[in-house]
Amino acid sequence: MENKSINLEKEFQARIDRGENIEAKDWMPEKYRKTHIRQISQHAHSEVVGMLPEGNWISRAPSLRRKVALLAKVQDEAGHGLYLYSAAETLGISRDELVEQLLEGTAKYSSIFNYPTLTWADMGAVGWLVDGAAIINQVMLTKTSYGPYARAMVRICKEESFHQRQGYEIMLALANGTDAQKQMAQDALNRFWWPSLMMFGPRDEDSPNTEQSMKWKIKKKTNDELRQQFVDQTVPQADILGLTIPDPDLKWNDENGGYDFGEIDWDEFWDVVKGNGPCNRKRMEDRNNAWDNGAWVREAALAHARKQAEQKISKTA
Ligand code: 3HC
Repeated sequence: MENKSINLEKEFQARIDRGENIEAKDWMPEKYRKTHIRQISQHAHSEVVGMLPEGNWISRAPSLRRKVALLAKVQDEAGHGLYLYSAAETLGISRDELVEQLLEGTAKYSSIFNYPTLTWADMGAVGWLVDGAAIINQVMLTKTSYGPYARAMVRICKEESFHQRQGYEIMLALANGTDAQKQMAQDALNRFWWPSLMMFGPRDEDSPNTEQSMKWKIKKKTNDELRQQFVDQTVPQADILGLTIPDPDLKWNDENGGYDFGEIDWDEFWDVVKGNGPCNRKRMEDRNNAWDNGAWVREAALAHARKQAEQKISKTA
């Protein structure tokens, strides 16, 4: 038996090394399956919880056009969540189990969504920075080794670029507006810059999952590589806005061909990941309320499906 599993593991790694996609019905090490359930479900939870900070501004958008764009974005995020829950289900976990883990607080979702959205400019900063960071990670994930996850990413990335663009356009309008509007945009950048860098996870040397995830080509780039890519891409965008990145250590490094930047507050990061961020409690409260208030919809849909099934049986009997 021992030899058999060693050969299976070897053949599996050889498939990964050849750049083959692993599909749901293929043999895979239990740890590969488990780490995908962990990462894909957290990704799905992030999409769903991520709707809350933005949903807060749909009714307060400054124009019908802004309202429609934000509404479309939030609806997209809901769809991304459902897409990713479906990808997680291909690994043998049920949707109910995934949702239960989120509602009881045992599942993680991205730390970024535990920060408050205080002004309209935050809608710009979230689209520009948060979706901008998400795209960098998600474009990499379109090449991840697990087929269903990679394919889900292709569709999601297409919509994500609209999210980033609508956010940047909000920032552009504010940065070119009145002094008060420009200050509002700068304030949003000041509050969302560092939490956006934290979206890429801990430093590589502090990441318990990155080494194995790179071996299994779950990740094609490490946390720090993606973070660096985000900084190098975003700093010139801030320059165009005429806004200042809130990092006195930010400096172009000719030798590396990228920006050096200051130290992230890792105590803050782990604090938020552990549930002690500004909005963790509120986000969980809102998610649980939405679940409870939506019970009647689930019951009605299930009753309707049962009735349909009974009618179908009686027709064929
Ligand atoms: N927030 C919360 N938890 C985080 C985190 C963050 N920003 N960064 C890392 N963690 C957690 C990890 O989940 C892991 O905990 P676990 O082992 O209990 O799951 C621990 O911290 C150590 O981190 P690692 O770097 O070792 O973990 P990973 O290898 O999983 O890398 C990741 C972290 C880069 C976030 C990776 O999980 C990933 O790529 N996830 C999928 C993409 C994703 O979730 N993006 C975030 C938001 S999606 C989004 O923004 C939607 C958009 O539409 C707005």
